[in-house]
Amino acid sequence: MNIAIFGASGATGTLLTQRCLAAGHNVLALLRTPEKFPLRDQVHTIQGSPFDLTSVRQTIEDVDVVLSALGAKSLKKEDVLERAVPQIIAAMQETLSQAKPVRRIIVLGSAGALPTSLDKQPVWRRWIVQNIVYNTFLKWPVASQISQWNNLSRSKLDWTMVMPPMLTNDPARGSYRTDGDALPPNGSRISRSDVADFMMQQIGSAQWVRKGVYISW
Ligand SMILES: NC(=O)c1ccc[n+]([C@@H]2O[C@H](COP(=O)([O-])OP(=O)(O)OC[C@H]3O[C@@H](n4cnc5c(N)ncnc54)[C@H](OP(=O)(O)O)[C@@H]3O)[C@@H](O)[C@H]2O)c1
Repeated sequence: MNIAIFGASGATGTLLTQRCLAAGHNVLALLRTPEKFPLRDQVHTIQGSPFDLTSVRQTIEDVDVVLSALGAKSLKKEDVLERAVPQIIAAMQETLSQAKPVRRIIVLGSAGALPTSLDKQPVWRRWIVQNIVYNTFLKWPVASQISQWNNLSRSKLDWTMVMPPMLTNDPARGSYRTDGDALPPNGSRISRSDVADFMMQQIGSAQWVRKGVYISW
């Protein structure tokens, strides 16, 4: 397949790119600084910004699937998802009336996107995570994920938003819990490798189309 990856240079995006290449796919990556990307010789790179509709159009042209591991690089207000996701959706929706529509998008989100995400947690943990983590430390990343969720939900695309709790750099375990309704009980971490594997699996699966899916160890 031809796969467009946004955020390919990030920690999760690099793992995702490696997996796509290992599976024999062609990868197109839109990058701010392609010369810094370690996998640049193995992918087709386009230099540009995901905030720029022309660059995004160029990236998704003729691909079969779009993946995104975009996100802010700090806990400050960066508005990366607020600015990039509408451009990606707009570019993809423009193709829906064309001979080869680009309809499928799988994005990396976060467990904090929805108020029901903590429904399966013990009461004490729900209180701490909601009040201390989501409402304070992760206030801006959570706002970005809410925006990503709202934009995808309103789109006409076949989207899947993969929603992990804290990401780690541990090796993949290959076994984890997924849940369409809320974060699994006491789910607090998962490796970027396992998330990348799961996102790859969604390319060939209709199970979570137009849905969010929580994933955690
Ligand atoms: N960290 C966690 O525990 C956690 C938990 C749940 C969900 N998440 C979500 O997962 C996302 C990805 O995590 P990660 O650790 O893989 O991220 P990361 O290593 O920080 O990678 C972020 C990616 O987004 C790109 N990006 C950031 N700001 C940009 C901008 N202004 N313009 C264009 N591209 C920009 C980066 O490109 P450059 O290489 O050009 O900078 C990079 O490719 C997070 O941002 C968050 O939304 C994180």
